[in-house]
Amino acid sequence: MKLIILKDYQSLSLCAADFIQQQLAAKPNLVLALPTGATPLGLYAELVRRAQKKQIDFSRATFFQPDEYVGLAQNNKNSFAFYLKKNFFAQLPIFPTKVNFFSGAAKDLAKVCLDYEKAIAQAGGLDVAILGIGQNGHIAFNEPGSALASRARVIDLTMETRRANSTAFGKTSAVPHRAVTLGLVDIMSAKKILLLVSGEQKAQALAKAVKGKVSPQVPASVLQSHPRVVIMADRLASSLINS
Ligand code: GLP
Repeated sequence: MKLIILKDYQSLSLCAADFIQQQLAAKPNLVLALPTGATPLGLYAELVRRAQKKQIDFSRATFFQPDEYVGLAQNNKNSFAFYLKKNFFAQLPIFPTKVNFFSGAAKDLAKVCLDYEKAIAQAGGLDVAILGIGQNGHIAFNEPGSALASRARVIDLTMETRRANSTAFGKTSAVPHRAVTLGLVDIMSAKKILLLVSGEQKAQALAKAVKGKVSPQVPASVLQSHPRVVIMADRLASSLINS
């Protein structure tokens, strides 16, 4: 694992944008998994800024979502698809053509998960999976207890995660109980992984992920076994790593 500690959120976002710009320069048809949440917002804003200035071009890239709430259609403002459209795709000079949304609102979710894995394979696999981390150590929506051999599937969200994600919904009870998520195997199959971590509320999860033993109880700890992981963390998030 390569750990890069940045002084603050702004530096983290710029450093992540530099990384993606380099990857895209080396492979214009890059296959990316894009996370949601508060953490990557600065990265998306910077990538959009660079795309508008024609410094970076996403027109040949392919995109996947690591996870999505069950029951929320793409046009539901709390869906991750809506978030990605609003904060990234719709702001690019041209809305990219190869966007694969994870259909959490479909009836047959087992089929959705199988088809999604197939679509990733057909695209040549993920080149870069960009990820955030939950305070309980989840990556995508692989909650504690997720098997290291887990594949794309439906998962029950923990109360802790539903509470952490409740702001947009107004109240925790409005947050869906289930989600579809790529499994740890799907994530580990990515050629490179970029994990973004910001804020002191993530310090414990990051320390366990990086220094703790690899365990399903801390799903992010599985990243220790991936050969090409870059973790970008701001000072607050990395405060427990050296202690
Ligand atoms: C959410 C998403 C994850 C995300 C994580 C961190 O629940 N399912 O994909 O990485 O939690 O979110 P945030 O950046 O808002 O802390």
